[in-house]
Amino acid sequence: MAIIEVSNLKKSFGQLDVLKQITFDVNKNDVVAVIGPSGSGKSTMLRSLIHLEEINGGSVSVDGNYLVKDGNYSKPQDIKRITGRMGMVFQHFNLFPHLTVKDNLEIAPKMLKTESKAAIQQRSTELLKKIGLSERANAYPSMLSGGQKQRVAIARALMLNPEILLFDEPTSALDPELTGEVLQVMKDLAEEHMTMIVVTHEMGFAREVANRVMFMDNGEIIESGHPTELFDNPKNERTKAFLKRSLK
Ligand SMILES: Nc1ncnc2c1ncn2[C@@H]1O[C@H](COP(=O)(O)OP(=O)(O)OP(=O)(O)O)[C@@H](O)[C@H]1O
Ligand SMILES: [Mg+2]
Repeated sequence: MAIIEVSNLKKSFGQLDVLKQITFDVNKNDVVAVIGPSGSGKSTMLRSLIHLEEINGGSVSVDGNYLVKDGNYSKPQDIKRITGRMGMVFQHFNLFPHLTVKDNLEIAPKMLKTESKAAIQQRSTELLKKIGLSERANAYPSMLSGGQKQRVAIARALMLNPEILLFDEPTSALDPELTGEVLQVMKDLAEEHMTMIVVTHEMGFAREVANRVMFMDNGEIIESGHPTELFDNPKNERTKAFLKRSLK
């Protein structure tokens, strides 16, 4: 069943058409890897889903609830409710530098005030254990490695119990030896059936963990399919050329 439905999504920055009538669905428990050259619109597409960008046309719905329908956005409280079902992890972590790891995790749920402090603290303790950073609960982000920071950012996104996680090149800012620990946390989430959309250059991860790969070029989805199909037998010439460049 589709949990995210995107149809004819259009986005321009001034004269530049960055997304041109993009249409795709994401099913519950899907892990969708989004690949494509720099500037093809991958980040803009992802940011549009969680309303970090306003789109210029088309529709986005989550579980049948429209964030935007035919270019018209829903009421602010509905937008909040819909985007609240998603969490996002960025390339540059975006942790709060003045807060400890534990406080980075707890600040958003505490501000929402929908749960008791005890429940929030219990979850942050559990999530820190899950990402293997229980010992660093009181550390500040500047004291952590890039890989540790990104694991904290993932745990922070999980604190709000999202049904869908969006990742924008989560390992691109990391030294190569630190990417593995972050990819492992993402792989564990996939095995727990988290619905994920992952913009990535990690073709190995896409092949191993994703159940669908979407290739974007110049604001369009050129080709999409199961990783073995798309990587081993790409149909489109642009996909072929891109893969040839990136798998070298
Ligand atoms: N805020 C903005 N204002 C103007 N143009 C923008 C803005 N954000 C993105 N763009 C342009 O939109 C296009 C798509 O950008 P986007 O960041 O979505 O690409 P991308 O596929 O994520 O690239 P990369 O792999 O480098 O991250 C690019 O031409 C970019 O310059
Ligand atoms: Mg990008």
